[in-house]
Amino acid sequence: MVGRERLHPNGLTGHDIPLGARILRLADTVSALGENRPHRPPCSFAEIRHVIERGRAVEFGPDVVSAFLRLVDERRMPEYHPPTFQRVLMEACQELIPTEISPFSGDQVLEILSTLIDAKDPYTTGHSRRVAILSVAVGNQIGFDEDMLETVWAAAYLHDLGKLSVPLRVLAKTTALDEDEREEIRPHTTVGASILERIPSLQHLSTGARYHHERWDGLGYTEGLKGEHIPLLAQVLAVCDSYDAMTSNRAYRPSRDHDVAMQEIAQGTCVQFGPRAAAAFLSLPDHLFQSIRKARAPVRVGAIERSRFRPAFTVGSAVIESQFLVG
Ligand SMILES: [Fe+2]
Repeated sequence: MVGRERLHPNGLTGHDIPLGARILRLADTVSALGENRPHRPPCSFAEIRHVIERGRAVEFGPDVVSAFLRLVDERRMPEYHPPTFQRVLMEACQELIPTEISPFSGDQVLEILSTLIDAKDPYTTGHSRRVAILSVAVGNQIGFDEDMLETVWAAAYLHDLGKLSVPLRVLAKTTALDEDEREEIRPHTTVGASILERIPSLQHLSTGARYHHERWDGLGYTEGLKGEHIPLLAQVLAVCDSYDAMTSNRAYRPSRDHDVAMQEIAQGTCVQFGPRAAAAFLSLPDHLFQSIRKARAPVRVGAIERSRFRPAFTVGSAVIESQFLVG
């Protein structure tokens, strides 16, 4: 049992470990070996390859190892370079996923990718789902049709997909981030968008990933878009993302109260937030926020706190859930 717990916090083995977690374990091992550490220089790519091959079917899933080695053998990743590695590994995942899941569906891709995001950033577990519930509620207030609400739901789930490329030492840091570390987080918008653009069933979600850190006054990123040049979908994600970030505990700062967060959003209207998205957000009923607060309570599983509620991925029922919560 002790051995099993070493492999996965829940003691899972083999294919019971979600594919996303299996990929992430290999990716993090390669990242760690390739980084310069105080006690050793970065491992060569041949050394990294040796460690991965030795861990096949022991530490790493054989299917994920095969996908990784295929990349190396096809010389698509001749040497270790972190940004290239993240991009190429995601491409390999696309080749791997259809062999595991048949028939292949957008919901299943969504589930796999969300598992990856949660596994990478345990402090924000549940963040994507809360942002999705809030975003659908805001979209509903604005008058989005059902197709658009489905897009909002999935785009909100995956808005932070690019955080897969942010080093764990930054995401898991227990003190405030310095300027260099904030710079390391910023490219997650373009990385997330470019991953989504490569997956045919998720291409339409790249707008949310790319533009959710833009500000109405043009002082945001990725492109510094201003006002109505920011896609409305991204304006909706931005306000919901900010609310959840403000009301969430981080290791280096306590959460803010709901009322304080609402006040900040009101004050940030036409400065940080688009007026339509902010007005719709501020009109959401209190009981929606109460429901989200109840669902936030974490439970401890192994060393990682996880939300009590596993995400549901049937988009239709999620939209209904949000509408029900809004009443
Ligand atoms: Fe983000």
